[in-house]
Amino acid sequence: MRMVNTVGIAGTGVIGSAWAARAMFHGMDVLAFDPAPGAEEAMREHIAKAWVPMVKLHGGEPEKAGTLAMVDTPEELGQRADFIQENAPENVELKQKLLASVDASAEDDVIIASSTSGIMPSDLQAKCERRPERVIVGHPFNPVYLLPLVEVVPGAKQDEQVIADATAFYKKISMHPLRVRKEVPGHISDRLQEAYWREALHMVNDGVATPQELDDAISYGPGLRLAIMGTCLTFHLAGGDGGIRHMLDHFGPALKWPWTKLEAPELTQELIDRMSDGCEEQQGDRSIRELENLRDNCLVEIMQVLAKYDWAAGQVLNARKG
Ligand SMILES: NC(=O)c1ccc[n+]([C@@H]2O[C@H](COP(=O)([O-])OP(=O)(O)OC[C@H]3O[C@@H](n4cnc5c(N)ncnc54)[C@H](O)[C@@H]3O)[C@@H](O)[C@H]2O)c1
Repeated sequence: MRMVNTVGIAGTGVIGSAWAARAMFHGMDVLAFDPAPGAEEAMREHIAKAWVPMVKLHGGEPEKAGTLAMVDTPEELGQRADFIQENAPENVELKQKLLASVDASAEDDVIIASSTSGIMPSDLQAKCERRPERVIVGHPFNPVYLLPLVEVVPGAKQDEQVIADATAFYKKISMHPLRVRKEVPGHISDRLQEAYWREALHMVNDGVATPQELDDAISYGPGLRLAIMGTCLTFHLAGGDGGIRHMLDHFGPALKWPWTKLEAPELTQELIDRMSDGCEEQQGDRSIRELENLRDNCLVEIMQVLAKYDWAAGQVLNARKG
């Protein structure tokens, strides 16, 4: 694997600047390209702002922080960086053109990852002539300097070494890389968010709820759990000792009720088995009771943190204190 000393950032807005901050905090130098006037100043401001919570999160300043320098062209970025993260606007033609320039100029062992929220990696590889298989999606979450998830998605042209090396790089900067098995528009997490988001828009459109009510419906309830475990394991606990099998048995008929505008899949035995096997694997050796305790202990502490900021569910603790 090529040693990554210099990270190339193409596009230095919200996401690009945050990637830069994370890389610099982990001791890597950053080279950045962005055609907008004033991009460097805005980027330095973003990085300074991101630095404060990073220091808090990691319990102090890094031993050695990386430096930041700008370049004038994507070709120069390609020639000088060891790993390139592209964060230009979500426009397929613009990204294709930018990625093709970087691909044409970078050495063969340089990986080029795109932060795209939903464009498929095969579409991003389409105009890259030199080494399209080193162009992948590395999709992060805002704020990138704090949230560790990065979805790693290979396109039709794949190289397992590229995926392995990108995964190793992301781990080095304290990310949690999640390999996406099959490219699909929106990857995994944005598809989940998008389903929620579209339903939320339907509810506003139909006069069912205001944006505040929708946010309260998440922040005071299921949102608190989500930081601890995702929907699958949460629903496994919702089935009590019977786990997800009982839960699917109990709520299976509801999949046919109009609880959402999204069409639910047919609840076949195969689907039940796949869900059950997956959740039981997530559960591992732990009993439902142990997981409930873990969930509850974490929920208490998360709410105490929210109370410190007098925000969302934390306000109920403060109100009780008077
Ligand atoms: N904002 C989010 O929550 C989020 C989360 C994950 C992924 N993403 C993805 O990250 C990417 C960037 O999003 P953002 O929110 O940072 O957008 P942004 O608008 O904040 O930043 C985009 C930057 O790209 C620059 N740019 C324009 N043309 C360019 C070019 N030809 N070459 C290089 N840079 C160029 C712009 O000047 C701007 O600074 C998008 O693909 C988006 O889907 C966004």
